[in-house]
Amino acid sequence: MKPKVYIARRVSKEVQEYISKFCDLEMNESDEILSREKIVEKYNHIDGLITIGTKIDEEFLNSMPNLKVVSNISVGYDNFVIKDMKKRKIIGTNTPDTLNDTVADLALGLILSVARRIPELDKITKAGMWTKVYPEEYVGTEVHHKTLGIIGMGRIGEVVAKRAKLGFDMDVLYYNRHRKEETEKRLGVKYYSKDELIKKSDFIVVLTPLTKETYHFIDEREFNLMKKSAIIINVSRGQTINELALIDAIKTGKIAGAGVDVFEKEPTDKNNPLLRMENVVTLPHIGSGTWNTRNHMSMVAAEDMVSALQGNIPKNLVEEFK
Ligand code: DGY
Repeated sequence: MKPKVYIARRVSKEVQEYISKFCDLEMNESDEILSREKIVEKYNHIDGLITIGTKIDEEFLNSMPNLKVVSNISVGYDNFVIKDMKKRKIIGTNTPDTLNDTVADLALGLILSVARRIPELDKITKAGMWTKVYPEEYVGTEVHHKTLGIIGMGRIGEVVAKRAKLGFDMDVLYYNRHRKEETEKRLGVKYYSKDELIKKSDFIVVLTPLTKETYHFIDEREFNLMKKSAIIINVSRGQTINELALIDAIKTGKIAGAGVDVFEKEPTDKNNPLLRMENVVTLPHIGSGTWNTRNHMSMVAAEDMVSALQGNIPKNLVEEFK
């Protein structure tokens, strides 16, 4: 008998065909991830779940007696409550290395968008409000040759650093839990303590995974250390920055602007003050959002699911289960 797999959101035909060769597949035909409650109600018979962001904790696992593997279609796996999964001997996989370039592109896009005020000026131009040639009120901030601080020098951080150094001649600093001397030599980046990096950087890109240690890693204290001209970019998880502290920092001019792809609550509330701030560029968590990358991510999740259900160690088993 084939193992039973459920995919909580629509994936490409190619991925469906691949899994179907090895598993009995059921899939949500919508591009909205099926809620935890509905998964429990309708699919509590499955052996494997492919999903994004579904919280996998004791309560969920208690209702899923056959579940063995959860494959995230994401690099982040803050939805896994590791100790609960381990207790039930459930393993989890993610999709590292599928989206490094894609998220790095977006990080640079946000830097340019905020610094050169691209969305704001696009609105003005399209509204027919451009009435003077070369008006001073449209000028922005330079990106090239400035100092970029990367918080979380993982795979995506390295690609951001490469683009920033080679493409924009930026001076690149990084903070990471562990210093990476080989990366420093290879990319010409410099290791700084978190506080020193924050004080020195013109642009700060937050790329650290969300863990207990990095929850509100950037809070009021950190905003107080930043340059008034600093621009912060978050393409990691909303909770790595205290959103209320960010709103306050922008409102009170502690920093000059922000680019946020991720929010503490997603989708964010339509009354979130960040959505009404001109010096904040907001996006709907779209870091990995290109067709190629999304398809690649779901194929990697599918391959790992099949491999694990066949009794092998999947390629992208997350660290904590090794
Ligand atoms: C990831 O892969 O973690 C992206 O943020 C998409 O969720």
